[in-house]
Amino acid sequence: MEVIQTINKLQQVLNEYRAAGKSVGLVPTMGALHDGHASLVDRSVKENDVTVVSIFLNPTQFNDKSDLERYPRTLEADCALLEQHGATIAFAPSVSEVYPEPDTRSFSYPPTDSVMEGAFRPGHFNGVCQIVSKLFCYTDPDRAYFGEKDYQQICVIRRMVDDLKFRVQIVPCPVIREESGLARSSRNTLLTDDERVLAAHIYRIMKQSLALVHEKTVQEVHDYVVSEIDAIDGLKVQYYSIVDGDTLADVQKWDDAAHVVGCITVYCGATPIRLIDHIRYI
Ligand code: PAF
Repeated sequence: MEVIQTINKLQQVLNEYRAAGKSVGLVPTMGALHDGHASLVDRSVKENDVTVVSIFLNPTQFNDKSDLERYPRTLEADCALLEQHGATIAFAPSVSEVYPEPDTRSFSYPPTDSVMEGAFRPGHFNGVCQIVSKLFCYTDPDRAYFGEKDYQQICVIRRMVDDLKFRVQIVPCPVIREESGLARSSRNTLLTDDERVLAAHIYRIMKQSLALVHEKTVQEVHDYVVSEIDAIDGLKVQYYSIVDGDTLADVQKWDDAAHVVGCITVYCGATPIRLIDHIRYI
């Protein structure tokens, strides 16, 4: 595996692969790689001749600077994992390589980017679109792989791809969970052992609520999930939204949309750590 730090070098290497007729898969990451990322890399390696994994802790998508400072940085271990999983290139640029000037572009795809994470983390999806659009320009991938754990992010990126007519195919990949049901996330390393046990209740309760669909209203299912999670000492729901799985607009009734998804953010533990998850109802 080749580790590349500059855009010029990346484009030069990819041009050679393209001239030889090779397909390119891109897996964008912020590092601190885990099994969830490995599953995206495995899928890309299976479906493309060349797999580029970007490792870039993108400052423009952090509205909370302490969150950025706390974010785990594990470049050496990340490269070892990518090597094991057969990635072709690890692209790990510096902040000044990606943003030699402040990025003044703004993206707006409501309601996908204005609700839920968009409402609670102003500017977050603008930063995601800034970096993902740059990565698409640098690599011009045939396919790009994103974990469904960040369900809303995929919806926003799909809108951006459609808007800017990138030729890339977006490939959503299933959430990878620990045995307890906790969704794999780089932020999990910030949890203590006790907090991990607490965090597992989030998905357990969401899964329980599946049995209530059709028997209860959307509002009642919403209230059930929030009250059950909030009843656990150490967990506090920031929001639980039951939405159209494509547009992310709120639904009032179960048949308001073809896909209905519940998206949650919960504060866990003393620090506290902010965890997100989702479940598909319909
Ligand atoms: O999902 C992430 O890790 C990031 O939001 C992404 C897509 C790599 C952009 O920085």
